[in-house]
Amino acid sequence: TYQPVREDKFSFGLWTVGWQGKDPFGDPTRAALDPVEAVERLAGLGAYGITFHDDDLIPFGSSDAAREQHIKRFRQALDDTGLIVPMATTNLFTHPVFKDGGFTANDRDVRRYALRKTIRNIDLAAELGAKVYVAWGGREGAESGGAKDIRAALDRMKEAFDLLGQYVTEQGYDLKFAIEPKPNEPRGDILLPTVGHALAFIERLERPELYGVNPEVGHEQMAGLNYPHAIAQAIWSGKLFHLDLNGQSGIKYDQDLRFGAGDVRQAFWLVDLLETAGYEGPRHFDFKPPRTEDYSGVWASAEGCMRNYLILRERSAAFRADPEVQQALLDARLDELARPTAEDGLAGLLADRGAFEDFDVDAAAARGMAFERLDQLAMDHLLGVR
Ligand code: GCO
Ligand code: MN
Ligand code: MN
Ligand code: MN
Repeated sequence: TYQPVREDKFSFGLWTVGWQGKDPFGDPTRAALDPVEAVERLAGLGAYGITFHDDDLIPFGSSDAAREQHIKRFRQALDDTGLIVPMATTNLFTHPVFKDGGFTANDRDVRRYALRKTIRNIDLAAELGAKVYVAWGGREGAESGGAKDIRAALDRMKEAFDLLGQYVTEQGYDLKFAIEPKPNEPRGDILLPTVGHALAFIERLERPELYGVNPEVGHEQMAGLNYPHAIAQAIWSGKLFHLDLNGQSGIKYDQDLRFGAGDVRQAFWLVDLLETAGYEGPRHFDFKPPRTEDYSGVWASAEGCMRNYLILRERSAAFRADPEVQQALLDARLDELARPTAEDGLAGLLADRGAFEDFDVDAAAARGMAFERLDQLAMDHLLGVR
């Protein structure tokens, strides 16, 4: 039980299990992982997909011949295991050339290079059958006020996404973009810091239908925000194209813990939301196995991500099926929230004396909402005592 299968649609970034543990204070604690081994191990654990940045698969600066070799070995491993590539993305943050960003660097030549690097990997993504192309603008930002004209930078960001949208349209690729927000780190402040900022930005693009969001658990939580709420608004907007699952404990540096670690209550409500809203995309993990671990710890951490999702999925189903919960939901008037406020229209509302003149405000104010009992039932289910 809690054994992942392909139908669960679990996917992992090559850079997650492949993270060698280099951080700002210390050297790598693990040897490099061969992408072929990553494919084989993840397939063995029950994942269905693997994702990558261009440079995870093809070391930066590889010759064309070496590039072809890396792609060929990877493709072979995919064919051998049946693992698919649901998403790919570009590294526009590691090489020093991107120190001031890719799409919004002040230097125009760097921006043109960033676009060409992205387009090159979009071709590979399409070739490998990816349906989503993630864009995380980790270096698109600033540490100081005068260094970046934010309105001009947003013009350049829009220009970049419009060009990429034109490119995939002209090529006839079946590929959509998912913008990944993050408030800070590695830049002091990053552009499009939250899901809300990204959703508003998308509506300014030339082909808004091509773009959605890729919200990451820890990134919203670094901003003190509620991740399930962000996911709910993305779903409501028809914009949840992908998501990055991991764990985070409060407002601090980006922890990228395994899924389920950190805020387990938000993890529960997230899984409950995804499963009840009918989200059909990949359940993608973007975590960093802590640098304390050797490779057996890395695979244990990857297994833990999927196991925690499956446990929470089961806990959510038990919660929804419990007759006492169903009664508690009625007591909390969720059914009333689902009902329009004025089916009778504006005229009906204005003519309804019960809505205002005869409304008993004191009686309504005195009604309890019964939320605490409902939440305790959820806790009991989450903690496995019901
Ligand atoms: C982070 C980010 C990155 C991006 C990934 C895709 O943790 O800061 O999530 O890991 O998701 O690099 O570009
Ligand atoms: Mn991420
Ligand atoms: Mn992160
Ligand atoms: Mn990450």
